Amino acid sequence: LSDIWPRWAAEQTAAIRSAGQWRQNQDLDLLGPAGFADGEPVVSFASNDYLGLTSHPAVVAAAHAALDRWGTGSGSARLIVGSRPGHSELETDLAEWKGCERALLFSTGFSANLGVLSVFGGADVTVFSDALNHASIIDGCKLGRSRVVVYRHNDLDHLAALLAAASGRKVVVTDSVFSMDGDLASVNNLAALCLDAGALLVLDEAHGVLGPDLATDLIGPTVLRMGTLSKALGSLGGFVAGSTAMIDLLVNRARSFIFTTASSPADVAAAHAALAICRSDEGERLRARLRRTIDRVRPGHPSPIVPIVLGGEQAALDASAMLRKVGLIVPAIRPPTVAPGSSRLRIALSAAHTDDMIDRLVAALREGLAQ
Ligand SMILES: Cc1ncc(COP(=O)(O)O)c(C=O)c1O
Repeated sequence: LSDIWPRWAAEQTAAIRSAGQWRQNQDLDLLGPAGFADGEPVVSFASNDYLGLTSHPAVVAAAHAALDRWGTGSGSARLIVGSRPGHSELETDLAEWKGCERALLFSTGFSANLGVLSVFGGADVTVFSDALNHASIIDGCKLGRSRVVVYRHNDLDHLAALLAAASGRKVVVTDSVFSMDGDLASVNNLAALCLDAGALLVLDEAHGVLGPDLATDLIGPTVLRMGTLSKALGSLGGFVAGSTAMIDLLVNRARSFIFTTASSPADVAAAHAALAICRSDEGERLRARLRRTIDRVRPGHPSPIVPIVLGGEQAALDASAMLRKVGLIVPAIRPPTVAPGSSRLRIALSAAHTDDMIDRLVAALREGLAQ
């Protein structure tokens, strides 16, 4: 009997390996995009630190100050004794930034999506979900026990037809920037469609550093704007912004908020300092630099996520290995993360990449992929 579980685990891992889908962590000694892997210098093009704020002196200093004042952990859930002044101060500024009445922090963006889609889902709810939505949305839909209807990627005509055919309470959920393709949802058209259909719109803006932004007049009581502190804001955590009623409901019902330890004071302080930079002239300059960097790699591409679709899994693995040989880390993304036949390199660009780093990437791609 003692053999049942070890044998099962060994069979499962063997199956993953033989499908060519084995993954493992690699430890990298990085500060920003540059550092070392196994003692060799490397540049990463895989981080979501889009504005380079993980290593910004003001962000690091804010985290240090919070550590000195409140120590390392928050010690309990928000509703018990885990709330520090920084949590609600950050929530106030996040709400203002998103044009909403209130915001609520979660420990991660993943748990924010689980919370929203379980609280606003249910057996009597239909959730309309874009075919390329993030895993946390898919899992949130399952947790909510909703009826899930997947609409064709970015196809608003398809969505409109499905909405019209359904009755009862409806939720539409979409990434605003799709995490593996870097393309955008047409958020304003979606918001207008949801208003017409009486559907709640849940917008996952995790990668929305350069937009798309919602028009102010479309930010109403039936829109929830989810975001993360872990990407452009350089820290760790997630949030949801919306009307007072919706946020109060999340506080009282979202199990991924209620039954988990509050974010650490240092993470919150870092995100708050990063948000202040994002909303300042310096933030404008960083976004302009990021925009120029994207244009050097793929002119006109709408986001810092630039996919190079190569098709087969081996082609993507070979291209990634070729770049790794010259010290550039660009991951190969394969099924099940993307559809079979659409394996790719996924380049994530940052304002922290220097011109020289981008020159090296562009040259290596040109040489390597031309062969
Ligand atoms: C679209 C999207 N939503 C949600 C998440 C989860 O955010 P977090 O990493 O903060 O848990 C991610 C990132 O991993 C994402 O890409």
